[in-house]
Amino acid sequence: MKGDFVDARKHQSGYDEGHACRFPASPCDGKIKLPRPIFDAFKTQIADVLLRVFHKRRFIILDLMMPPSPNRDIARTWKYHNATKHSEWSIRASPHYLDWQNHPFPFKIYTTIDPNPLPKDADQTGIVALSAIGASSVPGDAEKVPALGDLARILYFSAGITKKKTYAGGEIYFRAASCTGALYEFELYLVCNDLPDWKAGVYHFSPGDFALRLLRAGDFRGVLVHATASESSIARAPAIIVCAGTYWRNSWKYRTRTYRHFGWDNGTILANMLAMASALRLPAKVVLGFVDSEVNALLDLDTSREVAFSMVSLGRINGESPATPRELSKLNFPTIPLSKSEIDYPGLREIHEASSLETREEVAEWRSAASRWERAAARATRVRQGDASRGGGRVRDSGPTDPIEQVILRRGSTRKFERQPITLDQLLTILTTSTQPIWPGFSLLNNLYLIINAVDGLAPGAYYYHVATADLELLKSGNFRNEARYLGLQQDLPGDAAADVFFLAPLDPILDVFGNRGYRVTQLEAGMLGGKIYLAAYALRLGATGLTFFDDDVTQFFSPHAAGKSATFLVALGKVRKPPQ
Ligand SMILES: Cc1cc2nc3c(=O)[nH]c(=O)nc-3n(C[C@H](O)[C@H](O)[C@H](O)COP(=O)(O)O)c2cc1C
Repeated sequence: MKGDFVDARKHQSGYDEGHACRFPASPCDGKIKLPRPIFDAFKTQIADVLLRVFHKRRFIILDLMMPPSPNRDIARTWKYHNATKHSEWSIRASPHYLDWQNHPFPFKIYTTIDPNPLPKDADQTGIVALSAIGASSVPGDAEKVPALGDLARILYFSAGITKKKTYAGGEIYFRAASCTGALYEFELYLVCNDLPDWKAGVYHFSPGDFALRLLRAGDFRGVLVHATASESSIARAPAIIVCAGTYWRNSWKYRTRTYRHFGWDNGTILANMLAMASALRLPAKVVLGFVDSEVNALLDLDTSREVAFSMVSLGRINGESPATPRELSKLNFPTIPLSKSEIDYPGLREIHEASSLETREEVAEWRSAASRWERAAARATRVRQGDASRGGGRVRDSGPTDPIEQVILRRGSTRKFERQPITLDQLLTILTTSTQPIWPGFSLLNNLYLIINAVDGLAPGAYYYHVATADLELLKSGNFRNEARYLGLQQDLPGDAAADVFFLAPLDPILDVFGNRGYRVTQLEAGMLGGKIYLAAYALRLGATGLTFFDDDVTQFFSPHAAGKSATFLVALGKVRKPPQ
């Protein structure tokens, strides 16, 4: 099967996989904590006592005023990240055989809710793919309210079924965005006000029958405004899409490493979504700062199995919706079981809880951390600007002008690359298009390192890509096809590709500024960048594929430049070798 890419090594490493069990286990990190409800009940009294102490001994209050937020206990991210690294040794030491009899069903199906079919006959936007992928924002401040047809196009070209393939073992329904193992663990939900041709509500998007199912009737956007501490794009959005990941759908194959996959697989969906929103001239913004429990409650998620991960504001209205926290009833709508049984990996819930934000105040504080990140990034850039040699920020390659929809329909992960060169213009077009700002106001968290195998006009070797100036800095020259093959989990694809783009992130300063939530953002950003690279390569009629990697070997290969950074994603690109007919 196509998604089963580890072939002879039908296993992925995991560290604490021995803790996985078929019954939900309560996460325990061995620390004694004051349970949150107990703390809340006594908060006023505790604050009173502390205020008195404050007058006498100023330093005490800083430590005791609030229980430490889980988000600030960054040792929990390091524990997760280090324990889920791949290495040649870990792959051998922890074999994992796929239980095909228990392969999770890739759709969430509510059995008792009637579908509201979405329109399938919308025109193409006609917007050239590269310009849609590269657009970082829709200019202007005018009101923009999407019609149902716009939402249908956004949902279809982000998470809809675009191909069906039949194998001996059954059928696979491939989706618009790439996804590890073709397991499609992300569900999309629409939260909207009354639109010109659609009623306000909370809906689940079902790609199987291309329909929306109503979970809650009425305008619930205020819950998201509240959860995001009145984030301005959410407060002014007529429609918001929330993306939620289901652990088991992906952990069936990837076990505890699934939380990294959440970032990547959600990120590729968002890359498509932003490109489509831009083609439809709809303002769109990815928002990651929210009170997790409030969003999960709105969608009525069973948080031991599925959790909200990101949200995207779509459109813009004049005036802001007020933040309206609401008592939300449990819905308990039945859904089709995904497998005969599910295996619980407690490490997933542990890292999710560690990166959760608990109050509006914490969300607001977290968002303001972005300015500190900008200062840290500026310092790092000053230190790093070395002897960059090429590029210069030109927007290149007039190339093919296929509209974004055609490119998304054409996209698929390349299974075999020709060992033939691409041009430097093509490479730089892909890089500049894909690295336009994602987060308004602050720079990318991930850095880009490349192995160049065959690019006309560029010596083979290892490079660092300066996003701000579009320059490629040579780190070491040489033919590194074998190294590329090894680093990409000993798969042929990165060895044969013309270029391999590795993302590495300086996790220390990221976690310092953003706490554990910074880890979610970093992985999601890597997925978004990777998703954009996929699209940009296909826009140029080249091929691309996401890949997994040997974590520490990647860092070592690009060191000393990359010392201290962590590998987050790998995309190989080049000319596609067509399968024999
Ligand atoms: C983060 C990520 C990692 C991936 N890793 C691999 C990999 O290591 N080897 C591989 O052959 N394919 C890999 N893929 C490609 C997926 O198998 C592919 O996206 C999936 O089968 C769906 O097919 P499609 O991309 O052609 O639609 C990866 C995809 C993503 C998004």
